[in-house]
Order: sequence, then C-alpha cells, then structure tokens
Amino acid sequence: MERPLISVEGLARRFGDGNQPAVFENIWFGIDRGEFVCLIGHSGCGKTTILNVLAGLDQPSDGAVIVDNREIDGPSLDRAVIFQGHALLPWLTVMGNIAFAVSSRWPKWDRARVAEHSRKFIELVGLKGAENKRPAQLSGGMKQRVGIARALSIQPKMLLMDEPFSALDALTRGMLQDEVLRICADTRQTVFMITHDVDEAILLADKIVLMTNGPGAKIAEIVVNTMPRNERHRNDLHRHPQYYAIRNHLVEFLVNRSKAFDQEIADGSYDPRRLKLVKPGLAAVNPPAEVVPLRHTH
Ligand SMILES: Nc1ncnc2c1ncn2[C@@H]1O[C@H](COP(=O)(O)OP(=O)(O)O)[C@@H](O)[C@H]1O
Ligand SMILES: [Mg+2]
Repeated sequence: MERPLISVEGLARRFGDGNQPAVFENIWFGIDRGEFVCLIGHSGCGKTTILNVLAGLDQPSDGAVIVDNREIDGPSLDRAVIFQGHALLPWLTVMGNIAFAVSSRWPKWDRARVAEHSRKFIELVGLKGAENKRPAQLSGGMKQRVGIARALSIQPKMLLMDEPFSALDALTRGMLQDEVLRICADTRQTVFMITHDVDEAILLADKIVLMTNGPGAKIAEIVVNTMPRNERHRNDLHRHPQYYAIRNHLVEFLVNRSKAFDQEIADGSYDPRRLKLVKPGLAAVNPPAEVVPLRHTH
C-alpha cells in the first residue's frame, strides 16, 4: 500500500480512567506531500487533541500516525507547530527566537550561517527591520509572524497550526492568511491546520476534513476544494463560481450534520477507512448555486 506523507490510522483518544467515552475514535485520513489540509469541527470535538498527537505531544489511546513510513513516537523538528498564542521566548529578540530554533535544527552551523538563514525567514514574513525587537515590543500580528518564521525556518516536513489567526483582528488576520497562502505556494510546504472559520478553510485548504461533534467524534467526510490555489484570492473569493457551493456545504455540516451524523449513517454505508471525497463546487457549476438574496425591508 502506498501511504501518503502523513497517515492517520485508527486514532482514538480517551481521557481519565478509561470508563469515559472516547473523545474521538477510528479516525483515518492522509495528507499528501505539499498538500494544505484544514480540519473543521465544533469546539470540544477533539481537534487540538488530534494536532497534539500529530505533533508527538500527546499519545493516542489507539491507532498511530505514520510520517514518511515511520510511526510518530514523540516531538520532532520534522514537525513544527504554530499555536494560537505565539509561544515566543520573551527574553530573546526576533532574530534570537528564530536563530534558537535554527541552531537546534542544525547544531553544527556557525553563528554567521545561522543568522543568514534566520534573516531569510524574517524577510519572508515581512519583518525585515524588526530583527532586534523583543516580543513585548511587537504587535499581536507581528508576534504571530515570528512564530510562522520560526516554524518555517527549520524547514519541517510538515507544519501544524492550531487556529493560528483566531486571536488577531480581522485586518491582520487577512494579511497573514495571504502571506501563508503565498509562502506555502512558494515552498510547497505540507500543512495541517485547525480552524473554525469556514472562509479561512476555503481560502487556504486543498482539502477540508469535517469532524463531527463528540464524544466519540468521527471524520464525516473530506471536502475537496474545487477552487484551484491560483484562483483563490481573499478579496473576491465570493465571486468564484464554486464558492457558494463549498461554503454552503461546510456551513450545513457545522449547523446540522455535525450533530446528527450518527443518524445520517444509520444505513451502515459509512466506512471510516474509506471516507467520501466530496466536491461540492462541481455540482454548483451546472446548475449554478442558488444564492439567498438579501432581504430588503421597506
Ligand atoms: N488533558 C486532558 N484531560 C482530560 N480531558 C481533556 C484533556 N485534553 C482535552 N480534553 C477533553 O477532550 C475534548 C476535546 O478537546 P480539544 O481537543 O481541545 O477540542 P477542540 O480543539 O476541538 O476544541 C474536550 O472535551 C476536552 O475537555
Ligand atoms: Mg482546540
């Protein structure tokens, strides 16, 4: 069997004495090299727990995650994590924070080489000129940029992001989404990202993994983003012919299907190892998706 770069195989997680229901179980999905995958689901369904397992920070109760044909057994510089909070070292400058990561990754490099490499990633995220500032002197958006630069600077096999923009104001969030889109296109970085923002998922992801509500959460299906990367632009996303079909499908899942999925699959057709790949955009091309008109009050 040909495995994807990252293969999640039968994952389950139970907390406590084992008598409580599993947060999630029988989770199977894969991420190919260079793919950007978003996980969407309601708060508390277990998204962060899955990401922690992928990062090697938490152990599953059942199942395994295979990266490049090896089972994950702890944290690794192959997998960089960007958290919701920035988690920078407050006593180090921007350069210091990134250089620290770079020299852990390549311990034999001399200072000049570490600095040169770090500078490249500081420039990539638009922080040129801020090298000598400490986290306390930076805005929330700038701190998150440092986090992104640090994660990318170690050139990980995969980038893991847990709602990385949710603490930022809308303008900063939009700018950073654009940067991440551009950087990932340039570097072909493999990404797994959690979000609860439907538009963020449509803008960034090639595939969107839909997770049902817990306990005993499942992956319902995988939505293929039928808008190609080069046709996704934040400011006119909604003008793309596929946009409403994808968006409506995701919202319908979050509003209704995520709660009632067990009823939906009562006919026994669901196989967690062979998830449905749904392409809502294609159905929308012909006939066109119906857009609910704005209501006028006269
Ligand atoms: N260390 C822990 N001990 C006990 N319960 C936990 C622990 N971590 C998470 N949980 C529980 O697991 C469930 C999923 O949490 P989490 O993965 O953070 O959800 P999400 O990120 O989707 O909001 C929640 O009900 C949470 O209370
Ligand atoms: Mg979470």
